[in-house]
Amino acid sequence: MGYYIGIDIGTSGTKSLLMDVDGNILAEATAEYVVHSPKPLWTEQDPEDWWNATVKTVREVVKKSKVKAADVKAIGLSGQMHGSVFLDGKGKVIRKALLWNDQRTAKECDEITSRAGGREELIRMVANPALTGFTAPKILWLRNNEPKNFQKLKTVLLPKDEIRRRLTGELATEVSDASGMLVLDVVNRCWSKELLGKLDLDTELFAKVYESHEVTGTLLPEVAKQLGLTTECKVVGGAGDCAAGAVGNGIVKQGIVTTSLGTSGVVFVHSDTPQYDAQGRLHTFCHAVAGKWHMMGVTLSAAGSLQWFVSQLCTELLAKKGVDPFGVINAEAQAVPAGAEGLLFLPYLAGERTPHADPNARGCFIGLTNKHGRGHMSRAVMEGVAMSLRESLQIVRDLGVPTKEIRVSGGGAKSPLWKQILADTFGQAACTINAEQGPAYGVALLAAVGDGAYKNIEEACKATISVVNKTAPNKNAVKSYDRLFPIYQGLYRSLRDSFKAIGEL
Ligand code: XUL
Repeated sequence: MGYYIGIDIGTSGTKSLLMDVDGNILAEATAEYVVHSPKPLWTEQDPEDWWNATVKTVREVVKKSKVKAADVKAIGLSGQMHGSVFLDGKGKVIRKALLWNDQRTAKECDEITSRAGGREELIRMVANPALTGFTAPKILWLRNNEPKNFQKLKTVLLPKDEIRRRLTGELATEVSDASGMLVLDVVNRCWSKELLGKLDLDTELFAKVYESHEVTGTLLPEVAKQLGLTTECKVVGGAGDCAAGAVGNGIVKQGIVTTSLGTSGVVFVHSDTPQYDAQGRLHTFCHAVAGKWHMMGVTLSAAGSLQWFVSQLCTELLAKKGVDPFGVINAEAQAVPAGAEGLLFLPYLAGERTPHADPNARGCFIGLTNKHGRGHMSRAVMEGVAMSLRESLQIVRDLGVPTKEIRVSGGGAKSPLWKQILADTFGQAACTINAEQGPAYGVALLAAVGDGAYKNIEEACKATISVVNKTAPNKNAVKSYDRLFPIYQGLYRSLRDSFKAIGEL
């Protein structure tokens, strides 16, 4: 009997789960850590925190599930994308990692575009324009701002690949996460020597690239002992959390779209060929399905917006014993009609990616009156995030990509109200599947494929994933949101110059 572990190195914490070959989850564990923000719109984490959380949660799931160490055949790794783990020649972390939602690299994005010979040339080489969250701008930032650290630099790894190095000793990555570094030739699934040359970066800085189901190594003896596993246990490529979450939701063929409400929010579609949005608003990345691609739009602060609202503006709820602040907030928002009586929220707390790649964009409540209270504000936050995701979905629909079914996932989708708001904003049913674990589940399935339990990931998803719940759109609410959507879209355009001016203060 084979068992598989999925580990997701998220932004707010790490989640590990252990499942059997049929996809039944036997145990789950999470461990949280902090995001450091040394300046507004800068975000960093200590890779050591990810490692400690990995060890803690894996030990916990192995213990809880009571399976024999030798029966745990393989591990899959998922993680927040784009983060930069800078290592020196001795494998020591040089400084804290810059994260996916860090906005310090606007100048470096311009530098990359210009060195590439313009935006179109860049998209030709790596399928995407330069965005502040991506990894290559972070490497140039290190070179431009911390030259002493840059001199020590020997390897750049993504967050989950740093955990792989600690587990197996191997420097390896896989196509889906590597796509978000902005130096992968996404069409040919290998590093773009052409762009690296123009950026004056050595190919040796980057790890070997695998497909997501391929075995990249086995556990080191001391690590196997620490985790309660064996040195036979394989570690497969895994995937960036977006592609991993999509696999965990069964998005391995055309026609189904997934949208997730994690710290960030993602609209994700599978594509059999490398398709582009000519304006570069959607990302085109390799999928965790061998030889396939995907497109996605990212709202940087999705459930992160509601988390901000509760942690900054509902402190008295947090202080009350036995009270679930999110439960209270949901009930208050539920009592407010769709459209929050004219109150709108722009979720740009960390700048924005899709469709406005704008590090200067700021979060706003617009339309406040004396009548509005906390319930209106929390509803407006949920609606603003849904509107932002609809903007990505709209681009997908406009490209003619079929969106027959929408599957929602992530922490925010556990709220029935938020799920209803998504269905009403999209004008389409929001479905949930039998497993809620998203990325960690997706990479556990990839581990099962890598171990040979399934022929491919399509077969693994077919055997394990099914839709269990559908939230139908409410006709009246759909009408309200259809009226609100163009107003929401106009607000960014009206405020863009003011955001820039605020950023320059
Ligand atoms: C995707 C992205 C985020 C992070 C969050 O491009 O930046 O979804 O992966 O974990």
